[in-house]
Amino acid sequence: MSQIPREIIDEIIHRSDIEQVIGSYVTLKRAGSNLNGLCPFHNEKTPSFTVFPATKSFYCFGCGAGGDAITFVMRTENLDYRAALEVLAQRAGISIPTDDTGAEEGVPRKRLYEMNLEAAKFFRNCLFDEQYGKEALAYLHEHRKLSMATIKHFGLGYSPNNWWMLTNYMKGKGYTDDELATGFLCGKSRESGRPYDYFRNRVIFPIIDTSGNIVAFGGRVMDDSKPKYLNTSDTPAFKKSRHLFALNFAKKHCEEQMLLCEGYMDVIALHAAGFENAVATLGTAITPEQARIFAKYTKKVVICYDADNAGQNAAQKAMRLLSEVGVEVRVLKLSGAKDPDEYIKKFGVEAFRRVLGESKSGFDYNLEKIANTYDLSLPEEKIKASADVCAIISGAYAEVEREIYIKRAAERLEISDEALRRDVERARRARARDAKQKESREAQLSVKNIGDRVNPDAAKYIRATSAEEALLGLMLIYDEFRRAAADGTVPISADDFVTDFSRRVFVALCELERSEAGYSKAMLGQMFDIDEMGRIEKIEIDRRRLARNDREVFLACIDGIKQEKAKLCERADDDPFADLRRKQEELKNKKKDKNT
Ligand code: CTP
Ligand code: MN
Repeated sequence: MSQIPREIIDEIIHRSDIEQVIGSYVTLKRAGSNLNGLCPFHNEKTPSFTVFPATKSFYCFGCGAGGDAITFVMRTENLDYRAALEVLAQRAGISIPTDDTGAEEGVPRKRLYEMNLEAAKFFRNCLFDEQYGKEALAYLHEHRKLSMATIKHFGLGYSPNNWWMLTNYMKGKGYTDDELATGFLCGKSRESGRPYDYFRNRVIFPIIDTSGNIVAFGGRVMDDSKPKYLNTSDTPAFKKSRHLFALNFAKKHCEEQMLLCEGYMDVIALHAAGFENAVATLGTAITPEQARIFAKYTKKVVICYDADNAGQNAAQKAMRLLSEVGVEVRVLKLSGAKDPDEYIKKFGVEAFRRVLGESKSGFDYNLEKIANTYDLSLPEEKIKASADVCAIISGAYAEVEREIYIKRAAERLEISDEALRRDVERARRARARDAKQKESREAQLSVKNIGDRVNPDAAKYIRATSAEEALLGLMLIYDEFRRAAADGTVPISADDFVTDFSRRVFVALCELERSEAGYSKAMLGQMFDIDEMGRIEKIEIDRRRLARNDREVFLACIDGIKQEKAKLCERADDDPFADLRRKQEELKNKKKDKNT
């Protein structure tokens, strides 16, 4: 558990004005006693993000993110509970006493950073080691043509072809098997449970966040074996969907524009060639979170993906996500080389600078693609081309932008602007309709708990879940119900619950209630992750919206849960597969009869 004293946590929450905290990230508009805005956690055009000052909480009816100020900061700043509290404490002018003695649950972020730094040193020493690193250094320096300065600048390294070298080294530095496994520096043998090095015989690319912490590693083989790259999976200190490779360097060179590449090697080659505004996603397609990072640092992004089909398709998605966050997008088109790294090697820096200058706006790039797909001398093909263009233009948010595109497309496709403008407006109305329908469909899906990650049992036990959530809602809102459940004056216990998630919430509420300091909602953030916090918020909101929340309802919920549990136990008593088994047996016998 966190070492931050409970009084301080309560004080931080008390002194944090949730309206101001969230308002510094999201533009909020007053709507009755609450505030609305566009959700910072998913892309939306109509606001479904709500802040409730009365309960000091927030909830997004679109994506289900929710919780208190701590959860909000955890989500937006990608921090753990303690770090988020530190941010809020600083805002509120409260100082947190520092004692780093007690062990926290799991591995603290700081510890993982220290561990990664130690590992990076190990990898670097191996790369420059006469005995171990010769081949790897030759690969990077001679084969990939990286200068020694570049190799050092990026802190590149090498993991030797050995199963235990790093593990043993790190254990010698005081890191435990569990810590090493949590940080993805080693795996654990399934049979013996013995730890082994995760990266073996690979050149290593450290991934560094904007504060200079080494958060993860990528490792490349030096031949054609597979997989070409291994990357650190998500850890408590690292979510790959929220980082960009080399942003630690690029952040100082990115006011004007940034370059988005596919690979580590492209970024390194670009930086070495003087384009220090290049970054890459970490082995995945660009995510909405990463798009928002770009929006924070720059106005314009040039997508420098590979020239192959995969790269060009990925460029479409990147274009969409980046325009959605208001970043101006351009797309680079390379010919004669498959990626920026190869292009610079083959044609030189100046040639690259030239194609970069010729990069087309996202719209022109697509317009050109459409114009080349159809034979514009045939009227019916021209109609199709104009429909495709119309679909793109209607997605542009600002009218001035649409007007520019309409003029340009009309000229390129040789059609009249007025006709195109009418089509665009019609497409926009259709889009607005679709968006509404989609939003309500998604909302319904989430109500039905389909694909529910937080409570995977919910879809299977719909009635039980709804009784459980009603009970938990009452316990979240009213002290008397929480107290009654915690001290056993009403007949409900953890064993009565059908779904695991509800049971965990129930236990947490009772434990907090019974704890010396008493219940505080702020403490839930230590026990549940941010997605779970969102669900807890929803359970409370759903309950608040109902008129009857008295003791009779509370007792009825208890009855409901018990009934559902009893049904389930009955079903488990008799073999649920008895029927099926009998039928299979019959079938088998029939077949046998036939064969003999
Ligand atoms: N990638 C990955 N896992 C793989 C293949 C690729 O994580 N098995 C990621 C890496 O981040 C890589 C990026 O996708 O940098 C682009 O892949 P690719 O174009 O194949 O690699 P390059 O970076 O161009 O590497 P190289 O030039 O060394 O082949
Ligand atoms: Mn490459």
